[in-house]
Amino acid sequence: MLRGDKVGLRARHEDDIPILQTELYDDVVNTSRSVGQPWRPIMPGSKDSQFAVDDKEQGHASFSVVELDGGTLVGAATLWGIDNHSRSAHIGLGLRPAARGKGYGTDVVAVLCHYGFAVRGLHRLQIETLADNAAMLRSAERNGFVREGVLRSAAWVMGEFLDEVLLGLLVQDWKPDSKG
Ligand SMILES: CC(C)(COP(=O)(O)OP(=O)(O)OC[C@H]1O[C@@H](n2cnc3c(N)ncnc32)[C@H](O)[C@@H]1OP(=O)(O)O)[C@@H](O)C(=O)NCCC(=O)NCCS
Repeated sequence: MLRGDKVGLRARHEDDIPILQTELYDDVVNTSRSVGQPWRPIMPGSKDSQFAVDDKEQGHASFSVVELDGGTLVGAATLWGIDNHSRSAHIGLGLRPAARGKGYGTDVVAVLCHYGFAVRGLHRLQIETLADNAAMLRSAERNGFVREGVLRSAAWVMGEFLDEVLLGLLVQDWKPDSKG
């Protein structure tokens, strides 16, 4: 397990999937804002669940997020689009509703930076999020990510086009222990 200050990132367990499916995926607004594809109903136990993990897939690393104190599942996190040539990857995360606003998101980003830069030897990490997602923007910026651009009207979300913000962090600018 990878450890932050408050949360740990461990492998996905089979019994995490229905919880993440119900509390994250089946929230149509949350999924429409996070995934960039139209929401559709997925059968319980379906291999098409975004939370089902194929361990042979090398292009991403999927984690379940747990509280260090007690081990309760609080969300999902992923390093995706891992490019071992240009040594870059993207970060994605989602927390269960009751776990939001407690500093866990900031901690998850810190742990994914450690995984990407220290464990995987990457050079650049990237986050894309909607321009109105204040908690995600702040979680990224607290870990040193800088806004590199606005993708105007890039996302179709529940009936309207919304702007996305692209943030990046290079390994030489990464400060492992200070969330400023
Ligand atoms: C986005 C998300 C991962 C952030 O994690 P979190 O644990 O809620 O965020 P934190 O508690 O670490 O807060 C980070 C910062 O944002 C601020 N913040 C938290 N919730 C906020 C809100 N609703 N509005 C404005 N600011 C907020 C916090 O005050 C904190 O700022 P500070 O460091 O200056 O005190 C989480 O809210 C979530 O899962 N949301 C739904 C799914 C989602 O949007 N995923 C990202 C898709 S790209």
